[in-house]
Amino acid sequence: MKHTRKRITVVGAGFVGSTCAHWAAAKELGDVVLVDINDGAAKGKALDLFEASPVEQFDARITGTSDYKDTAGSDVVIITAGIPRKPGMSRDDLLSTNSKIMKDVCKGVRENSPDSVVIVVSNPLDAMAYVALKELDFPRERVLGMAGVLDGARFRSFIAEELKCSVKDVQAFVLGGHGDTMVPMPRHCSVGGVPLLEILPKERVDALVKRTREGGAEIVGLLKTGSAYYAPSASAVQMAEAILRDQGRILPCAAFLQGEYGIKDLFIGVLCKLGGKGLEQVIEVKLNDEERAGLTNSTKAVQDLVEALGKLKV
Ligand code: LAC
Repeated sequence: MKHTRKRITVVGAGFVGSTCAHWAAAKELGDVVLVDINDGAAKGKALDLFEASPVEQFDARITGTSDYKDTAGSDVVIITAGIPRKPGMSRDDLLSTNSKIMKDVCKGVRENSPDSVVIVVSNPLDAMAYVALKELDFPRERVLGMAGVLDGARFRSFIAEELKCSVKDVQAFVLGGHGDTMVPMPRHCSVGGVPLLEILPKERVDALVKRTREGGAEIVGLLKTGSAYYAPSASAVQMAEAILRDQGRILPCAAFLQGEYGIKDLFIGVLCKLGGKGLEQVIEVKLNDEERAGLTNSTKAVQDLVEALGKLKV
């Protein structure tokens, strides 16, 4: 029987994947299928989450599986599979292991959910999104990477903390790759509509920019055994919601650029309009010299990773 509710597949039942399932179910975005090569972990976490639904009052079926056939016809697929960082590792150190995993995952997705919109979360993000696009052979509208929402959320949290104001009134975004070279955009931050640079001295803004760039490593350093998951999952699910509910949200995401900002055939974080079809528009922001140099530097870092991918035997 064809399911009529929206279906969201989350690949990877680790911390990020299971927390994605949690946010998606709690928001009643649709039914959630949690997939993992560890069948018991997928089934156990899915059942546990389903059993929370009468208490939390959400209508969503959550099931777990290790078989992609059970994910058939998904509307959105969130890929979190891969090993996370340990202290001292960069996201790039994960390249070889995670690209092998990504290829296997994409085969299962392509065969069972050929019309889905795919959101890649696995690191190194921009390179993994590239592997996914090639393996899936989907149009670029249906393959996106999650990074900018997370990096922007970190920046917004730090700004709100600094100003002792509500996070709800802070707007900010980040461009570029999801790595040390990311380009937070303080000129475009506002608090209650007032430009951040009119509110905070430049050296405080610079400190918040630095903390944002290092936000992932800050969490890895504290956890010691893995990387962040609450904010990454919330961010991926916000993208999924924008797509499933056809919201037309303007969110920073990794998109496969086709000449925007003079960049071609690479996933780079840019402002996107997300709706029912996935990526509906890449929004180009006018950059000043410093921002342009930052984006060029970040693009070079992503390009190097993609070239390293080409040299891997996988
Ligand atoms: C982070 C990892 C998930 O930024 O990339 O926390």
